[in-house]
Amino acid sequence: MTQADQHNAGNGDDTASQPASHGDPASQAANTMWGGRFAGGPSEAMAAINPSIGFDRRLYAEDIQASRAHCRMLIERGIVSRTDGQAILDGLETVKREIEQGSFSFKSALEDIHMNVESRLKELIGEPAGRLHTARSRNDQVATDLRLWTRAAVDRLDGQLRAVQRALIEQAESGADLVMPGYTHLQAAQPVTLGHHMLAYVEMFGRDRGRLADARKRLNECPLGAAALAGTSFPIDREMTARELGFDRPTANSMDSVADRDFALEVLAAGSTLAMHLSRLCEELILWCNEGFAFVELSDAFTTGSSIMPQKKNPDGAELVRAKSGRVIGSLITLFTVMKGLPLTYGKDMQEDKEPLFDACDTLELCLACTAGMIQDMQPNAANLRAATQKGFITATDLADWLVRVPGMPFRDAHHVVGRLVKLAEDAGCDLPDLPLGEMQAVDPRITEDVFEVLTVDKAAASRTSRGGTAPDNVRAAATAAREHFL
Ligand code: ARG
Repeated sequence: MTQADQHNAGNGDDTASQPASHGDPASQAANTMWGGRFAGGPSEAMAAINPSIGFDRRLYAEDIQASRAHCRMLIERGIVSRTDGQAILDGLETVKREIEQGSFSFKSALEDIHMNVESRLKELIGEPAGRLHTARSRNDQVATDLRLWTRAAVDRLDGQLRAVQRALIEQAESGADLVMPGYTHLQAAQPVTLGHHMLAYVEMFGRDRGRLADARKRLNECPLGAAALAGTSFPIDREMTARELGFDRPTANSMDSVADRDFALEVLAAGSTLAMHLSRLCEELILWCNEGFAFVELSDAFTTGSSIMPQKKNPDGAELVRAKSGRVIGSLITLFTVMKGLPLTYGKDMQEDKEPLFDACDTLELCLACTAGMIQDMQPNAANLRAATQKGFITATDLADWLVRVPGMPFRDAHHVVGRLVKLAEDAGCDLPDLPLGEMQAVDPRITEDVFEVLTVDKAAASRTSRGGTAPDNVRAAATAAREHFL
């Protein structure tokens, strides 16, 4: 069962397990929707591979919404009578209610959500139901439904990303002065503040929101009215249905309308980058919880214990978010692989678009909820963050900068001098500020007492006032700017 199936489990139907074929007369007989030219029904294997209702029932609300918009347009254009049209509109509402109350019986023999809804409509209102499918096809129908669903998913993701940014900005504000090592190659590099580190992720998630917003702009065109692939001879009004469904405009080309799944791919691509960011953040949380770092403590709400080792508090939430990036990126690859090489226009291959898209969006929603909670609850350990800066000669660059600034050495020479001082400290088993002035002067006589000023981590961090730098005052200003920009 996919996450999508689980989401929808509970309705009385024959689709929760493998599609029934034995004892399900509907799957043995020719399909009632196109039975005209069919004498026999599908084989057992065909009945198993063909239906999408097990997962596309999730589109029921969008399907009914789009059908109602289509029906209103058919009435407006005089293609369907007002009486029939009203019967269809009311019947669709009833179908929706039945699905939401759990009394709707989904049938895998009816393949997908579109035919399940239409078939039930026929049972409810009789002959007029058959007029709903005028001037449309399941090809433009499914493209429309899926765009509507994807648009809503993008909006949910955006809201959740904002919540993660909020949690990070709050940590940045309270951690603007908390010095810690900044790393390159996971080796202590220069002192930074926890606040600065948090705001780095605010930027990443800001770009993720930008990518999703960009995808949303392009997806917000309405394919309805493209019909099977070539358009229709009926005098439809595509502007009207597009407007009613909140789309910016109708799509331009009927063939592209039914063949395109770029909108899903773009969301999966943006989602994959987002998943990668989440996994980097979670990897850091996992490292920071390790006793070697002990930089932060995660709350009980996002950790688990061990059944054998009573001392353990495992960062399972972060580990799972780190891991789940795999299925999001996998979904992108799945859909790329489905779409590559498909001739225009629609191919049933494209039915395989939904499970990866649903799964990726569900997974991201879960991961974002966990991440927002973990960051909100995270307790930094100021003493351990600071203690970690006392190792690794973390102010070496500050010493080199001082040699450039005060005695006016070229940076390359200063770099060499500091290299020798680091070697000295390493041999003596101490940090740079612990070296006696005399020993420093033996390496370079231009070094004076003043140098010790720049060798403290607080001074080092506070000195990085260049735009985008880690100085606590910068961080506070950046947090305020991020609040205004993102929240
Ligand atoms: N269940 C199908 C899908 O998800 C709906 C479109 C089917 N169209 C068709 N011509 N068979 O793609």
